[in-house]
Amino acid sequence: MTQPLMELVQVDKSFGSTRALNAVSMKVEAGKILCLLGDNGAGKSTLIKVLSGYHQPTAGKLLFEGRETRFASPREARQGGIATVHQDVGSIPLMSVGRNFFLGAEPVRGRWPFRSIDTQRANKVAVEQMQKFGLTRVRSGDQLVGTMSGGERQVLAIGRAMYFGAKMLILDEPTSALGVKEASMVLKMMRVARQNGVAIVFITHNARHAMSVGDNFVVLIQGEVAASFARGEKSREEVLNLMAGGEDMAELEEDLEQID
Ligand SMILES: Nc1ncnc2c1ncn2[C@@H]1O[C@H](COP(=O)(O)OP(=O)(O)O)[C@@H](O)[C@H]1O
Ligand SMILES: [Mg+2]
Repeated sequence: MTQPLMELVQVDKSFGSTRALNAVSMKVEAGKILCLLGDNGAGKSTLIKVLSGYHQPTAGKLLFEGRETRFASPREARQGGIATVHQDVGSIPLMSVGRNFFLGAEPVRGRWPFRSIDTQRANKVAVEQMQKFGLTRVRSGDQLVGTMSGGERQVLAIGRAMYFGAKMLILDEPTSALGVKEASMVLKMMRVARQNGVAIVFITHNARHAMSVGDNFVVLIQGEVAASFARGEKSREEVLNLMAGGEDMAELEEDLEQID
């Protein structure tokens, strides 16, 4: 087996007396999609905040490219090649597509103190890249982000992370607010990222979305890894059961019948 890009070993994260993560161990591999499943309050957000340098573990180890690492900040994690795409991506609808693509990494022109952002070049590169991602509806970098659909914004965010060389992509519920067509566009983009060797952590509530792209699955229940398996090792029904918080659906139905 090849070395995982990131590995968590027995990671705990507590907030006062709340233990949000309890001895979590998992591996994130390059060129694989890891689906992170779990109910509200299971610890998913806390886990991705540990992966992205926003939180430091209370105990346990984090290995990045085989070396024990401590990301002191999200900035440090980003510099290491870890990109996080939040659900509310592109929440600045009045920003131009070109600005949004570069977000603080715009090409500059001239020398200080006459240095300025090269808007034309930024727009040109942004539009070229978006055409590559399949966002053919966007023709001008001056177009506002607010004119793009939710799915297009997710695709843009994933493509941008790839363009800037992300090794690991954390996607927090990227498909949950989308219609079928939009969601499939985002899932397709995730497959493209995988093909490019990016390690993807995909947080979702949608078992169908998870099963359609996932290579590996981790189910969190109350901060603990309740199940961890590879594609094909469990049926769709078993996954649904696990996602329902470890309750066995068949047993649940039997109980209900008895009540009737
Ligand atoms: N910053 C925080 N301070 C205190 N408690 C927190 C904080 N973040 C999360 N928690 C608690 O940790 C647990 C897991 O939360 P979270 O990671 O947000 O779950 P999920 O994303 O799966 O819904 C919850 O009990 C939550 O209240
Ligand atoms: Mg959450």
